[in-house]
Amino acid sequence: MTNVTLRVNGTVHELDCDVRTTLLDALREDLDLIGAKKGCDHGQCGACTVLVDGRRINSCLTFAVAQQDCDIATVEGLADGDTLHPVQQAFVDRDAFQCGYCTSGQICSAVAVIDEAKQGWPSAITEDLDATDVELDAAEVRERMSGNLCRCGAYANIVPAVQDAS
Ligand code: FES
Ligand code: FES
Repeated sequence: MTNVTLRVNGTVHELDCDVRTTLLDALREDLDLIGAKKGCDHGQCGACTVLVDGRRINSCLTFAVAQQDCDIATVEGLADGDTLHPVQQAFVDRDAFQCGYCTSGQICSAVAVIDEAKQGWPSAITEDLDATDVELDAAEVRERMSGNLCRCGAYANIVPAVQDAS
């Protein structure tokens, strides 16, 4: 057992947990933040995506103890009071989900995707590697969101939702 300090959505939490506890399990089981979902627990589905220092990660693939001193944001921390984050609002407006199991991961991933594109980070299909602001056309969104799987197949609405928010 070890003591871990996590800063999640601006709040500092101290918890005693097994040193092997993943960030996903710490969030869900110890902090009761159940927005991030456990789909595969193997880094293959993206349902557990959260933001660590603004970058998206699969929280099932990292230990909680390794994320101390980082700013962790989950889907619960995106809205501003009763005002949804623009990505959340776009998902609602576009009806970009069915069962919703993948949705919090999709939304966290999309928040980071939009930021990455605005910073000019290329994806595997970006042609202009010198672009300072990559336009998120449908192909770019599909490529950049390809780590987030949706078994309901809501992709047709997820892609335009991400484009709307961007
Ligand atoms: Fe983490 Fe599937 S639960 S990638
Ligand atoms: Fe059901 Fe994506 S909305 S898995």
